Amino acid sequence: MASAIEVAGVSKSFLIPHEQRTYFKEYFLHPFRRTQYERNEALRDVTFSVEAGEFFGIFGPNGSGKSTLLRILAGIYVADAGRVRVNGLLSPFIELGVGFDLELNARDNIRINATLAGLTRRQLDARFDEILEFSELERFVDQKLKNYSSGMLMRLAYSIAIQIPFDVLLLDEVLAVGDESFQQKCFATFERFKVEGKTVVLVTHQLDLLKGFCDRVLLLEHGVVSAVGAPADVIDAPHEGALVG
Ligand SMILES: Nc1ncnc2c1ncn2[C@@H]1O[C@H](COP(=O)(O)OP(=O)(O)OP(=O)(O)O)[C@@H](O)[C@H]1O
Ligand SMILES: [Mg+2]
Repeated sequence: MASAIEVAGVSKSFLIPHEQRTYFKEYFLHPFRRTQYERNEALRDVTFSVEAGEFFGIFGPNGSGKSTLLRILAGIYVADAGRVRVNGLLSPFIELGVGFDLELNARDNIRINATLAGLTRRQLDARFDEILEFSELERFVDQKLKNYSSGMLMRLAYSIAIQIPFDVLLLDEVLAVGDESFQQKCFATFERFKVEGKTVVLVTHQLDLLKGFCDRVLLLEHGVVSAVGAPADVIDAPHEGALVG
């Protein structure tokens, strides 16, 4: 089967600043002392691939590099080394808040996001009601997003994402802020994506989701791939460090 995502030897570091001056008076005593930077390796030589139509889970402790990896897949961050290839239309929805203008209401945000994603006016008109209906936010359509709760933002973002054509969908812990009934609706869309042969990469701390939906899962620890394989094999195997979930 063709690969939807290929990641080969990807590394990414960030610089952590360390101020040399702790007290305000030190700014005057040592005006030329510089801030020093420590290199933090968020991802180290990460290699894996996801097949077209696969439901692929990524999990691991806080700070292990999951969001950094997804941002690299989405083209938001550039890797320091290695190669990344995504075949097919990538959904822009990866985490809350990306792509929203909080000063505008839901109506305008739906229009802007759908237009940027390439929907024609006619397509948008046809799908606008469906987006609102799925999000169950009809009452709040004219309210500015800055006054939305995080769950409402997620409902809106997810509802838009699934109405825009995609082959590969990246989801970074988005369901965690949804209530039980909305999560159930999302799970129903997961089943539909499977039937339609979409590729989904799901980052989550919920091990039951990984077991329930994923064909394969990847465990990331300290920026390194510790294991890739069937959920039952990877999740239940003993690992270095404490597992999340
Ligand atoms: N823009 C950035 N600038 C500096 N450091 C960053 C940046 N983005 C991520 N990092 C660092 O990279 C490391 C991995 O962070 P990342 O957000 O990818 O972890 P995560 O696995 O998604 O964690 P969580 O489970 O808490 O969401 C962390 O040490 C973090 O501080
Ligand atoms: Mg994260």
